[in-house]
Amino acid sequence: MTSFSEIPDLDGEQFQRFARLIHEKAHIHLKDHKITLLSNRLRKRLRALKLASYDDYFRYINDEATAKQEMVHFLEAVTTNESYFWRTTQNFEALKKHVLPELVKAYRGSRLKFWSAGCSTGEEPYNLAIEIVESMKSLGHFEWELLGSDISNRVVDFARAGIYSGRKIERIPENILRRYFRKLDDQDAYQVRQDLREKIKFDTENLFEANHPGQHCIFCRNVMIYFNRQDQEKLVNRFYDMLVDGGYLFIGHAESLQMLDTGFKTRPTEEGVLYQKQS
Ligand SMILES: C[S@@+](CC[C@H](N)C(=O)[O-])C[C@H]1O[C@@H](n2cnc3c(N)ncnc32)[C@H](O)[C@@H]1O
Repeated sequence: MTSFSEIPDLDGEQFQRFARLIHEKAHIHLKDHKITLLSNRLRKRLRALKLASYDDYFRYINDEATAKQEMVHFLEAVTTNESYFWRTTQNFEALKKHVLPELVKAYRGSRLKFWSAGCSTGEEPYNLAIEIVESMKSLGHFEWELLGSDISNRVVDFARAGIYSGRKIERIPENILRRYFRKLDDQDAYQVRQDLREKIKFDTENLFEANHPGQHCIFCRNVMIYFNRQDQEKLVNRFYDMLVDGGYLFIGHAESLQMLDTGFKTRPTEEGVLYQKQS
């Protein structure tokens, strides 16, 4: 009997078929050099389903009887979910220094809406929530709500539980760790405070189908890097429409809107370029 580790990598044609499906479902653009990565990840699905070949798996994922259920696992196998607290802190510095003071003033009396779009395992939305709560020390109290969404069920469940350890939390300042987390008994892990966990709404959804109008800030960091230029532009324009006038979009440090045709106004700051909807 062939062991699963003996199944060779996908051939070029098989890779293209899966890559087209991934693009159709999640808009993720898999470059050709990802063939080994995709082969390794799909091998795990073959093993779990006891299927003998990638072609059997392709039929399985396209079969009406099994497609819906398997698509969840398939997309989980192909997404990259790396995330950690205190990632690209310049974004949060700009939020505290420029964005929140301005939005709190402009939208006094309104509830500010924040969205972590492609939130993975939850570090970004919790980090954002902590910064919002901390900012009230200088800005005074304001009402807010926060949505964290991702296409992968598994990471959204992880985010809801809010339990982290190791590399994910190593950059969190000690005083913040003490204030917003509790150490779990007999474990080298910390859980986000219950009130913060309950404050954030987590949802599984595809960004290209999401519609959340009235946002004041959208964080979509290290997500667009996986999309092609055309899909990036489509998504960024969707975000533009979902922001209030004067609202902000935050993207990852390796991402840029420079090549995209969008309505965003750029605002250079010491903490990096800010992207603001015209008001
Ligand atoms: C590298 S993580 C970024 C996490 C976080 N934003 C950060 O910067 O730390 C990228 C996330 O985007 C999600 N993603 C990719 N395509 C998506 C789509 N079409 N809709 C929603 N989420 C998507 C992936 O599941 C993954 O969790």
